[in-house]
This record gives sequence, structure tokens and C-alpha cells, in this order.
Amino acid sequence: MQKIFAVLFLALFAVSAVESSRRSRLFQKYFKKFYKNYDFIPENIEVRWYKGMRLDHFTYSCRIMWNNTYYQPGGPIFFYTGNEGAVSTFEVATGMMFDLAPMFNASIIFAEHRFYGATQPFGNQSYANLANVGYLTSEQALADYAELLTELKRDNNQFGKTFHRDSQVISFGGSYGGMLSAWFRQKYPHIVKGAWAGSAPLIYMHDGGVDPGAFDNITSRTYVENGCNRFILANAWNAVLNLSSTDSGRAWLNNNPVFKLDPRTPINNQTDGWNLNAYMREAIEYMAMVDYPYPTGFLEPLPGWPVTVACGYMNATGESFSDQDLVTAVANAANVYYNYNQNANFTWCIDFNICGDQGTGGLGDDALGWPWQECSEIIMAMCASGGANDVFWSECGDNIYDTLKQGCVSIFGSMKWTTANWNIDAVKTLYGYDLSGSSNLILTQGHLDPWSGGGYKVDQTNTARGIYVMEIPGSAHHLDLRQPNTCDPNTVVNARYQNSNFQIVQILKCWVDVNCNTNPTISPLPTLSIPNVECKDRIGEYPWGQTDALKSSTAPNVKTTVTVPIATSSAVPAVPTSSEAHMATSSAAPAVRTSSVAPVATSSVAPAIQTSSIAPIAGSSSQSPESHSSTSNSPTNTTSSGSSTASTLPPSSTPTNPPTTTSSGFSIFSFFSTIFVLLCTII
Ligand SMILES: *[C@@H]1O[C@H](CO)[C@@H](O)[C@H](O)[C@H]1NC(C)=O
Ligand SMILES: *[C@@H]1O[C@H](CO)[C@@H](O)[C@H](O)[C@H]1NC(C)=O
Ligand SMILES: *[C@@H]1O[C@H](CO)[C@@H](O)[C@H](O)[C@H]1NC(C)=O
Ligand SMILES: *[C@@H]1O[C@H](CO)[C@@H](O)[C@H](O)[C@H]1NC(C)=O
Ligand SMILES: *[C@@H]1O[C@H](CO)[C@@H](O)[C@H](O)[C@H]1NC(C)=O
Ligand SMILES: *[C@@H]1O[C@H](CO)[C@@H](O)[C@H](O)[C@H]1NC(C)=O
Ligand SMILES: *[C@@H]1O[C@H](CO)[C@@H](O)[C@H](O)[C@H]1NC(C)=O
Ligand SMILES: *[C@@H]1O[C@H](CO)[C@@H](O)[C@H](O)[C@H]1NC(C)=O
Ligand SMILES: *[C@@H]1O[C@H](CO)[C@@H](O)[C@H](O)[C@H]1NC(C)=O
Repeated sequence: MQKIFAVLFLALFAVSAVESSRRSRLFQKYFKKFYKNYDFIPENIEVRWYKGMRLDHFTYSCRIMWNNTYYQPGGPIFFYTGNEGAVSTFEVATGMMFDLAPMFNASIIFAEHRFYGATQPFGNQSYANLANVGYLTSEQALADYAELLTELKRDNNQFGKTFHRDSQVISFGGSYGGMLSAWFRQKYPHIVKGAWAGSAPLIYMHDGGVDPGAFDNITSRTYVENGCNRFILANAWNAVLNLSSTDSGRAWLNNNPVFKLDPRTPINNQTDGWNLNAYMREAIEYMAMVDYPYPTGFLEPLPGWPVTVACGYMNATGESFSDQDLVTAVANAANVYYNYNQNANFTWCIDFNICGDQGTGGLGDDALGWPWQECSEIIMAMCASGGANDVFWSECGDNIYDTLKQGCVSIFGSMKWTTANWNIDAVKTLYGYDLSGSSNLILTQGHLDPWSGGGYKVDQTNTARGIYVMEIPGSAHHLDLRQPNTCDPNTVVNARYQNSNFQIVQILKCWVDVNCNTNPTISPLPTLSIPNVECKDRIGEYPWGQTDALKSSTAPNVKTTVTVPIATSSAVPAVPTSSEAHMATSSAAPAVRTSSVAPVATSSVAPAIQTSSIAPIAGSSSQSPESHSSTSNSPTNTTSSGSSTASTLPPSSTPTNPPTTTSSGFSIFSFFSTIFVLLCTII
């Protein structure tokens, strides 16, 4: 409002400089009338105030990574909508874009999400206070991407490379990046022709109709379908509690043949037992998500099909096991995740307060980013309900959202986070849970992936509007977007491409072809069959052993990292000057996409809060992430937007709730590890 008046005043000033102009006097007259009367309220109307409308705008530098090797004028832009981590993380996990680019003559552009990686709008102060971090929202990120693409098509732009105004844009993204890709198409259809969103939990939000227990229900299913004895997983937690409550049990836990506890985290009581449960559970959940057919490396190397390997330890039949048997089975499984290389020196540090989260690696500089999003807009309720739903313990409590809010206070309380920052219906309001007004979306889900419970279902497919929802048997977290591999299940290969009708490839081809007026129909996926061959990436082998007339040749190239100033709101036109743009140092360049050992991009990536009443809540420990060295942005000014109780032993095979705690005495690590465990892994 003030801005508008300021503009009007300026205009008025300019006009009145033209002395005695009749028009200017008229203008002044009208202007004064409107201006003076803004308190006037017609009698037939009611005035209400919507308090809390969000305000924003400023400019900063946003990093992109691009590869124009295959780009030919007239070709499309394959645009990755960066998610909650350094953009290089997604570059190495999205080989599909590189394999498809040559036949499309496409440019490949990965944009980094504001507040992640090197894109820190306020440098090392980005997470210092609410006024700064308040600009970390999905809609601001989408506005960034729209701005960026518009700039790329502008003549004489700051990149020195102008894409044709008619270049079609296809957005790609996995996990939260997939959510952004889909929303990008929904919100900016004039900029994005269509989106391929892999494993995007688009409706795992308040009122989205997804059961909070879905994630762990699917986790459990993935294990059971891979040959695990459900009983073993479902009872191991109580076995730990049993053992940790007696002297002899603790003696065994502290000196057992399966895992070595870190000397800093011995098991002295049942609270420590709960820590052990959380530690093992994290491994179990992680492996379901990254149950890829070939070896991948993240923190620790994982074998191909890690869940199958883990189930090799949890497949004994029957229901008569000693507590030690149960713990041994699940601990061996957890070691597949934590210590597949069988380093004899590896120890289990089960208390996140002491060692941080061994499952997600050290906290990155932007580690507060996802928690912030979880505490403001992307609010996901996830919890295990135990019993028939899943193999974990009941933790949903009476009100899962209250538990989440407690966590938010613990992390952001010192920044004065209040429930005013908690916009539980943001996703519902901004994007909705209804595709009936949308078009051109490919939404893939992996049957093995716990996140698949939070996505649209296959019955939402609407070929006429170009909406395709595919649930892919044998696929984990956006495996379909990764570099094709000889070990990919036939279902994934088929979803991407099929000799008779190119499936997803054919859809993309139609979207970029102005003469294609009829959306292709996709065929049902074949019955799952898993190749038994040596696993190798198929780099540049489109169409991956099949024949296709579309295949075309390639051209020269340059991979570059560029930083570009971005305006965050249409209210303020960014006038990027070339001095603002700076080339990132080469160390910012992404790791080379190589073999199947390409890191599973899990760490910095992950929507959804894994809540748990176990979750010790972060206390007053330091809230600001470490400084981020690789950016030196010039932030412009902004307006601000904004004891455990020992539980009794469980009588039955249903584990009791873990002890609840007050906020004192717990560090941020605990919060990440238990509440946000999976969130940190969504990609
Ligand atoms: C890609 O560019 C080459 C060279 O300009 C051209 O011959 C080919 O038809 C283009 N392919 C497509 C799919 O547009
Ligand atoms: C998932 O939940 C359904 C419904 O409660 C249940 O029937 C099924 O057994 C659960 N799956 C697993 C593996 O626990
Ligand atoms: C734990 O202890 C209880 C009570 O002694 C016993 O009934 C139960 O079988 C034990 N083990 C498990 C896994 O619950
Ligand atoms: C349990 O033992 C740990 C040390 O292993 C200690 O820090 C904690 O205070 C103990 N908790 C209770 C409830 O005794
Ligand atoms: C469990 O899996 C292991 C490893 O695949 C296998 O050697 C063993 O025979 C299986 N045991 C049962 C009871 O299926
Ligand atoms: C394990 O620790 C010992 C003693 O510190 C060291 O000599 C050895 O190299 C370590 N082994 C590995 C695999 O790290
Ligand atoms: C672009 O990607 C392709 C495929 O990975 C690679 O061969 C090429 O070298 C890259 N171009 C640049 C400039 O890095
Ligand atoms: C934060 O960034 C500023 C400006 O780049 C720098 O002077 C300062 O030392 C940094 N602070 C920390 C704690 O790294
Ligand atoms: C931002 O504005 C406030 C209030 O006008 C001022 O105190 C502060 O110094 C400004 N910060 C910057 C970085 O300009």
C-alpha cells in the first residue's frame, strides 16, 4: 500500500512540474479525493481485516548449474526445481535429464533453492533471525524460478546466453523438488509446459487425506514383501526395552556380538534403550527409501537392494525368539545401513545429543532450512501407530500437530517462532489437493518408497489433461529420475520408455512439440522382473538398449556454474547488474556424475517430519547454522515477515510409548534425528 502511494506521490510530483496543466489539476483533484477518503466505508458493506497477509521482496543471488552441451536453438529447457539442499546433490541424482537431453536438443539447468547450498540470501545470517528466514518459502522459490527462466529468455541477459522465447520448459524434480516441479507447472503454466515429479508427497499435508501412519505402513510393507518376518521387527523394540531394564540385559547390550556401542553412549537405563531403538529404526526407514537395485553411496556405501540384504538377518520364521535374538536380528539389519563395509572400529553412537545423527551425516550449514519449512508451510504429520499399521511403536499421541509445534518451539523458539509462523494450511491454500484444474503432470511413485503414501494415486490419471500418475513396482525414492542402470527393474525401464509407445519419453516429446495436440496414452507397466546382471550405469545410452527413431546426435558443450541475482517478488523488478553476478568458484561445481556409486542424495533432502514422542526436543542450544563460506551475497534490507519418565515395561508385544521429555536438556541433534529423521532423507 505504502509503495503504491509512494509511486502515486512521485507521479504527482512529476505531473505537477508541468505547471498549470489542466490535466494535472484534474489528476490532483481526483487523487486527493481518493486519498483523503480511504476511511470512507459505504453503509452496505462490512469491513473485516485479514491479519497476517504475508509481505516480501528483495533481491539476492541465486546459484544455478547448467549444461548446454546438447542444446540446439529450438530445443527445450529441462529445468530442475532445486529442493532442500545444495543443488549439486540433485544434479548427481537426476541422470535422466542428461540422458534425455541429446534427443531433445535440450538445455539442462539446475536451480538452487533459496536458503540452501550456496544460495544464502543473507549470507551467513540467512538463518539468524525470523526476519531473514521468513523468506524461505516454497512460493518464493517458485517465484525465483519463474524470474530466472524469464531472464534466460530475455535478450541481452546477464548470462550472455538467450534462450528462444518459444523454448518449452519442462520441470523436473524429486521428492520436495518434485512437489516444487508440480506446483511450478500449476502456478506458472505460461512458463512451464509440463512437469515430471518423482516421488513427490504432494498431499502428505494437513487435510490432504493421508493417514499419518502411511509412511511407516509402507516402510513395514517393504520389509515384509522382501522376506522379513514381521514379528521380528515388530518385537525387537520391546526386546531392547526389556534388556535395558535389567542388569543382565544391560550387560549384554553393552557387550554384544553385533554392535559396539560408542564409549560415550553406554546403555544404563531404559531411556538409553529408547535411544537404541530410535537409532535402529532410522536405519530401517532409510533403507526402505533408498532401496535401489544397485550399490549407492551416501554416508556409508549401501549394497544394491539393501532391504533384501537386511531381511537376510530378519527372516527366521516363527514367533519364539529370545530378546537377544530379536535385537541381534534387527541390529544386524541396521548395520547394513550404518556399517556395510564392516569396519571393525565403527561404533554406534546412539545418543544424538552427543554425536549428532550418524544416519544423516553432519548437519550442513543449511540444516535449519527444512525444519523451518516444516515449521512454517510444509507441515507434514507422520508418525507410527504401531499395532497392525506398522512394525514400530505407537507414537502419534492425541495430537500430532501439537507435538510438531513443540519441536518448532524448541528449534526456533529462541528466534521468537510462534504459532503465527505456523501456517498449517499453506499447501492447501497455495496449491491445493485437487488436480482437476491442472494439466501436464507426470507423477511417479515408487512402491517400495515410504513416501509413496503421500502422493496422488493412480486413479488421478487423466490423459486428456496430460496427468499421469504411475506407481512403479520395484522402485524406491525417485529411482525413475536417476541414471539408468543395467539393474533397473523392468518396470522402471518401461515407465521411462517402451518400444511400442515411449511412455514418459513420449509424453515429454508431445509437450515440447507444438504440433502435438493429443496427449499420449501410457501402457500399464509389466509384471515386475528384476535383472540378474552386473550393475552398471547406462550413461548416454538412450533408449537404453531399445530402438528409437527419435535418437539424435549431440553437440559441443560447457558446464558452468552461474550465480544470478533474483528478485523475490514481482512487486520489485529485479534489475540485475552484472556486478552482482559472480562466478562461483570451481569448488562449488557439482561432483562428476559417474557410476552407480553416485551418492544417494539423501542427506540434505527430505520433506516431512518424522515425529515421535521419543523425540527429545531441542533446547536452547545454538540455533544458527555455521556460516556458509561460498557465497558473499549482498543482502538488501527487508521487512520482517514474519525429563524423562521411566516407562514401565510393556506388557505385550506392542511397545509402549517412549518417555516423553521436556524441552530442557536436549540438543538440536535429537530433534533432527528423531523428529526429522526422514525428512533429512527425502531425496
Ligand atoms: C536437434 O538439432 C539437430 C541439429 O540442429 C536437428 O537436426 C534435429 O532435428 C533436432 N532434434 C529435434 C528433436 O528437434
Ligand atoms: C498397513 O496397514 C494396513 C491397514 O492397517 C494393514 O492391514 C497392513 O498389514 C499394514 N502393513 C504392514 C506391513 O504392517
Ligand atoms: C519382554 O518382557 C515381557 C515381560 O517379561 C515379556 O512378556 C516379553 O516376552 C519380553 N519380550 C518382548 C519382545 O516383549
Ligand atoms: C540414563 O542413563 C544416562 C547415561 O547413560 C543418563 O544420562 C540419564 O540421565 C539416565 N536417565 C535416567 C532416567 O536415569
Ligand atoms: C534368510 O536369508 C538368508 C540370506 O539370504 C538365507 O541364507 C537364509 O536361508 C534365509 N533364511 C530363511 C529361514 O529363509
Ligand atoms: C581400527 O583402529 C585401530 C587402532 O586405532 C587402527 O590401527 C586400525 O587401522 C583401525 N582400522 C580401521 C579399518 O580403521
Ligand atoms: C554435459 O553432460 C554430458 C553428459 O554427462 C557430459 O558428457 C558433458 O561433458 C557435460 N558438459 C559439460 C560442459 O560439462
Ligand atoms: C559472516 O559473513 C561475513 C561477511 O561475509 C563475515 O565477515 C563474517 O566473518 C562471517 N561470520 C561468520 C561467523 O562466519
Ligand atoms: C534495515 O533497516 C533497519 C531499519 O530501517 C536498519 O536498522 C538496518 O540497519 C537496515 N539493515 C540493512 C542491512 O540495511
